Amino acid sequence: MILYDKQNRAFVLGGKNYSYIMHVNDCGFLQNLHYGSKTEIGDLGYLISHIGSKYAPVKSDLNMDCLFDVMPSECGSYGRGDFREPTVVIERADGASMSRLRYASHKITNGVYNIPGLPHARSGGQTLEITLKDDFSPVEVVLKYTVWDEYDVLSRATEIRNAGKESVKLNKAFSFCAELPEADYKMLRLHGSWAMERMPEWNSVAHGVARIQSLRGASSHQMNPLTVLFDGEPSERTGECYGFMLVYSGSFAITAEKTYFGYTRVQGGINDIGFRWELGGGESFYTPQALLCYSEQGMGELSRAYSDFLRERIIDPTFVKKRRPIVINNWEATYFDFDTEKLKSIFDAAAPLGIDTFVLDDGWFGKRDGDTSGLGDWFVNEKKLKGGLKAVAEHCGKRGLKLGLWFEPEMISEDSDLYRAHPDWAVGKLGQEPVRSRNQLALDFTRKDVVDYIFGVMSDVIKNNGISYVKWDMNRPVTEFYSNTLSAERQGEFAHRYILGVYSLAERLTAAFPDLFMEGCAGGGGRFDAGMLYYFPQFWTSDDTDAFQRALIQWGTSVVYPVSAMSCHVSVCPNHQTGRTTPLSTRGNIASLGAFGYELDLTKLSDEEKRDIKRQILDYKRIDALVLNGDLYRLIDPFGDKWFAEMIVSKDKTEAYVVGERLRGVPNDITRRIKLDGLDPDRNYTVEESGVTASGKSLMRIGLVLPSLADYESFAWHLKAVK
Ligand code: DGJ
Repeated sequence: MILYDKQNRAFVLGGKNYSYIMHVNDCGFLQNLHYGSKTEIGDLGYLISHIGSKYAPVKSDLNMDCLFDVMPSECGSYGRGDFREPTVVIERADGASMSRLRYASHKITNGVYNIPGLPHARSGGQTLEITLKDDFSPVEVVLKYTVWDEYDVLSRATEIRNAGKESVKLNKAFSFCAELPEADYKMLRLHGSWAMERMPEWNSVAHGVARIQSLRGASSHQMNPLTVLFDGEPSERTGECYGFMLVYSGSFAITAEKTYFGYTRVQGGINDIGFRWELGGGESFYTPQALLCYSEQGMGELSRAYSDFLRERIIDPTFVKKRRPIVINNWEATYFDFDTEKLKSIFDAAAPLGIDTFVLDDGWFGKRDGDTSGLGDWFVNEKKLKGGLKAVAEHCGKRGLKLGLWFEPEMISEDSDLYRAHPDWAVGKLGQEPVRSRNQLALDFTRKDVVDYIFGVMSDVIKNNGISYVKWDMNRPVTEFYSNTLSAERQGEFAHRYILGVYSLAERLTAAFPDLFMEGCAGGGGRFDAGMLYYFPQFWTSDDTDAFQRALIQWGTSVVYPVSAMSCHVSVCPNHQTGRTTPLSTRGNIASLGAFGYELDLTKLSDEEKRDIKRQILDYKRIDALVLNGDLYRLIDPFGDKWFAEMIVSKDKTEAYVVGERLRGVPNDITRRIKLDGLDPDRNYTVEESGVTASGKSLMRIGLVLPSLADYESFAWHLKAVK
């Protein structure tokens, strides 16, 4: 709901459980009055006179500096007495960068707004666009908001229009600016590294600026592009919190600046370090979208709100609720060492187990027997695969399996035909020694000819071999932010243009192959973000498949992303990343909290393991609808406890699935109980495994006794409402 109150020049935006209220104050500045708990429309007068006036600049004297610095602003500007970090910085031909942005007009429309070339919420809602004009230049800043009555998420983005004739330079163009009231906030970082993605870390927001960012050309393993500010001690079930998530996969920054008045400005978008965008007369620049989310009931509610929103408005509706293929991937089974005969033996072993799709990973193309060569040569390696991919597809088909294929579209090996033909297609200044990572270079995706070429070769492979599934990997960061085709003035546009190139390829592939299922990957989960989820319904969560470490990674990922977006495989033991041995059943239970598959050599399984895997797949097919559609409740936090436990509850609350893993045994905990969550208190439920029947209320308030398990053993309970 969006209302405009003409008399007060106020905008009242509201979703399921929140209000977001702004007004144009006497001086023409767009001021935030409230973001948080749902308010009554009748409270507008009080908000303006009691709350707003305290922070507004002095009426009719626009040059008094004293209050710009504390005014809760919807777009922080630079150089006019607001000494906090600005949202946009616009440099004009005369070199001056100060602006004074004031309200000019607004428009309210039904539906979402479009952001050319960038992923964004797809449908529904109501949109408000407020145009602010700069008093000192012909630039207009359009702030865009979409709200949906049924969600606690609102979207924001900024368009910067140069209505003049001369070019201006954007030195910073963040997507949103939100001002939160005085509180003792804790700030969340989902930090990490390869094989240890999205580890939650909470810190107090102190005075000054806290900044999270990536400068890697990708959202990165190291820092996910989002934060949450929690009022007080973070808790799953109670408390007020605000989420700020970017629908963006490139170098980003999010800052939280606590002012001397005690409240906090949170803003974010494209990383401004190294960023500089030449905006010609009559042109517009569009920032990525940000998704803001408010919860009055702790982190659990925030996660579920984000999860619903991403599933229903960001991820491709063609796939999001469709049963996911159960995959066998050959990476950990063979690495680069395979041929058609080996693959055939994997198909033979996979078929009787109930697996749907075989995904042929790295190594099927060019001269690719290791990671030093071949990237960019997307032509089948017939030495390894006699008869080519056609033969592989045929063998797959005979065994009732579909064929998936790995690509790393953005990369090039120096030892490749593509590099020999086009050395200037690699990122970095020609003739200047590049930084190598995993022995490879990144392709210059700012160039249309490069993206066109990759689209062409990928399309041919997909079309000619009946590929139904693509795993799009990306195994190194971008290090040289330089293109051989951009002019000197435009090199600062490189990082953003690179990711626009990535999106354009993803967009073209999804449009050309509407039935093709695509999984994202970036050396594991190094680009697991809402931007990527727009194109890929699921993302490879991490290269770490160890059932202990994976529980932590999936917990951290679930803080904001739906479980259905997490691609999770059962792999072999000892685990290739950690060396740990865990029971096959636990590896299965942990992987079942996501899009399920296998990543091991099926030809080496014992008969007992084959039987177990067959059973696991049947079990997964009983709960996959819950994974796709249900609500996640995190029950025991593995970061602070000796157990891990999560449960998924169906939307109608008739069914639930609980998974727990004992991480570290301690004596005398045989009476420990686990309190369930999300059930209907007034219904009775039966736990299939134990036969226990109790009311939802008791299961949530009194709980169930945890089973006696050894380290890394686990349980899975299926609950059904009693009719
Ligand atoms: C990194 C991915 O995360 C792995 O699953 C695998 O695809 C390798 N790359 C292949 O190089």
